[in-house]
Amino acid sequence: MRWSPFLGIPLVIALISFLFFKIFPLSSLISSPPPLQPRLFSAEELSFYNGSDPQLPIYLAIVGSVFDVTKGKSHYGAGGGYNHFAGRDASRAFVSGNFTGDGLTDSLQGLSSPEVKSVVDWRDFYFKTYIYVGKLDGRYYDSKGNPTKYLKGVEAKAARGAQLLEKQKDEEAKVPSCNSRWSQDEGSEVWCDDGYPRLVQRPIEIALTGKMSKRCACYKEDELEQAGLEVYEGCDFFAKKCRI
Ligand code: HEM
Ligand SMILES: *[C@@H]1O[C@H](CO)[C@@H](O)[C@H](O)[C@H]1NC(C)=O
Ligand SMILES: *[C@@H]1O[C@H](CO)[C@@H](O)[C@H](O)[C@H]1NC(C)=O
Repeated sequence: MRWSPFLGIPLVIALISFLFFKIFPLSSLISSPPPLQPRLFSAEELSFYNGSDPQLPIYLAIVGSVFDVTKGKSHYGAGGGYNHFAGRDASRAFVSGNFTGDGLTDSLQGLSSPEVKSVVDWRDFYFKTYIYVGKLDGRYYDSKGNPTKYLKGVEAKAARGAQLLEKQKDEEAKVPSCNSRWSQDEGSEVWCDDGYPRLVQRPIEIALTGKMSKRCACYKEDELEQAGLEVYEGCDFFAKKCRI
């Protein structure tokens, strides 16, 4: 068959438009804002996004991951209760609750493994709730954006913390917790439907994660001789209900 210009021109047009849309996909021509690339922030750069400039978004970092928390302006903006988290990595304050001075640090050194786990859980919360925008060049990511040995250490410690908490949960499931109630005239009281109320100390690593260092559990008569069980002050050895 001979070359025909009537066949050739449409073919050339088809070829050119094919190549055009290959280079500029339709989606990129229609959707206006290009997707944001994860960025690498310096600590100084991040500090501008602390909510003091209403023109800028609000960013916070936790364990080196940076999130856009502008939609939580009421917490993180100027005057918000959690404004101290904005424009910096204050990972430690997520467990210490210390938002002053040196409390606002990214160091998790010396925390127990369940505590480190709770900080990593906060990071998961930000991944779910807000927009991830990048990494902070510092303790947890190096200047190339690669994880540092500190990040790997934190991930490993959090995994141990998760295991420990799981084990503890299984352990505590074997002994039912006491019922408790509070009323104006009775005050606080604990009681057991089956067994006798005892205070038990949690393992030290668990106890470190806050005020929950002891719990009330119900022990059967033949279990009451175990070590570490405390009778409530002012409560009989065989009482089923104790005021606290
Ligand atoms: C270690 C201590 C604490 C830390 C690190 C902490 C951290 C936070 C953070 C980061 C948020 C914002 C979550 C978001 O973006 O939606 C938040 C919200 C909140 N926190 Fe805390 N918090 C602490 C203690 C407390 C305490 C003791 C109370 C109450 C007595 C409390 C009550 C609240 C409430 C009510 C909200 C939700 C506010 C809202 O959605 O309008 N927090 N907390
Ligand atoms: C926020 O950051 C800016 C620039 O780094 C600084 O001048 C300002 O004092 C900071 N504001 C707060 C509330 O920390
Ligand atoms: C917060 O941390 C700083 C520095 O570690 C310390 O001096 C201060 O006493 C702490 N404040 C509270 C309320 O724990």
